[in-house]
Amino acid sequence: MKMDAGLVEHRREINGVVNGKVVKKKKVRRRSSSSSSTTTMKKELPFFTLQQLYSFCKNVFKGPGIVPPPQDVQNLCNILDCLVPEDFGLSRDLPFFKTESCVKGNPRVTYTTVYKCRDFSLVLFFLPASAVIPLHNHPEMTVFNKLLLGKMHIKAYDWDDSVDVDCSKKSSSRRLAKLKADSVFTSPCSTSVLYPTTGGNIHEFTALTPCAVLDVLGPPYSKEDGRDCTYYKEVMSASSDETLAEVKEGEQSFRWLEEIEMPENSEMDGIEYLGPKII
Ligand SMILES: [Fe+2]
Repeated sequence: MKMDAGLVEHRREINGVVNGKVVKKKKVRRRSSSSSSTTTMKKELPFFTLQQLYSFCKNVFKGPGIVPPPQDVQNLCNILDCLVPEDFGLSRDLPFFKTESCVKGNPRVTYTTVYKCRDFSLVLFFLPASAVIPLHNHPEMTVFNKLLLGKMHIKAYDWDDSVDVDCSKKSSSRRLAKLKADSVFTSPCSTSVLYPTTGGNIHEFTALTPCAVLDVLGPPYSKEDGRDCTYYKEVMSASSDETLAEVKEGEQSFRWLEEIEMPENSEMDGIEYLGPKII
C-alpha cells in the first residue's frame, strides 16, 4: 500500500537520522542562542555535553510534584541552550531535515527516548513538515523544550478560572484557558520551560519545516502514577454566542478547551535511540 510504503521510507529515514553514525563533535560549533548580531565581539558559550545534561538532571529533578528551584531551572536552560543537534547524533544536512515539501494530511511524528528514569526523561521528537502534535497537557510536570532543528509554530495555554464567566455559559467538559504563547520558533532559539500550572502547560506543536525537538520532562508521563497525557481541542463556548469563542480581558486572550480522545492520526512511532550514549 502506498501509504505504508511511505511510512516505511519515513521510518527508515528517521532511523538514518539517529543511526547516522553521525557527525563527529567539533569544538568550534557552538552558536549563541541570542540573536544579537550587533556585538562585534563574539560571545563564547560554555561547552556542554549530553552527559553533563544528564548529570545535571540527576541532581535537579527530585521526583513527582517537586518543581526545581528557579536557579536550577535557569542553569538547566543554560545547558540546553548550548546543546546542538550533533550532541544527539543529528545534523541539519541529514535528508530528513532537507525535505521541505509538506506531506499531505497529518504526517506521523517519530520519537526516541534518550534516557528515562523515575524522576525525569529526555525524549527527542522528529516532526516532518506540517506534522502536528495536538494540544496536550503535562500533569504535575516541569518540561524544558529545546528546538534543535527546524521551524515550528507553538501555541500554549494555562488553565485560568479567574475570569468571571456567566454560569449559564459554563460547561462541565469545557474550561477556560489563557493563551501564553502563539508564535513561530526557529532554531537555534532559547529553551522554553513550562510548569505544572504556568508557562503554557497545555501546548501544540506545528512543524513548518522538518523539526527535531528535545523534551526534558520532570517527571516523565506515567499512567500508573496518574500522569497520563490528555488531549484538548479549542471550542466555541457552550452557548451559541460566537463572541465567546475567544474571550479577551485587557491584553489577555482566553479560549475554551475541551478534553478529547487522542486524535487517531496523532499516534507516534517510537524508535530506538542510537545516538551518543549516556554513561
Ligand atoms: Fe508536550
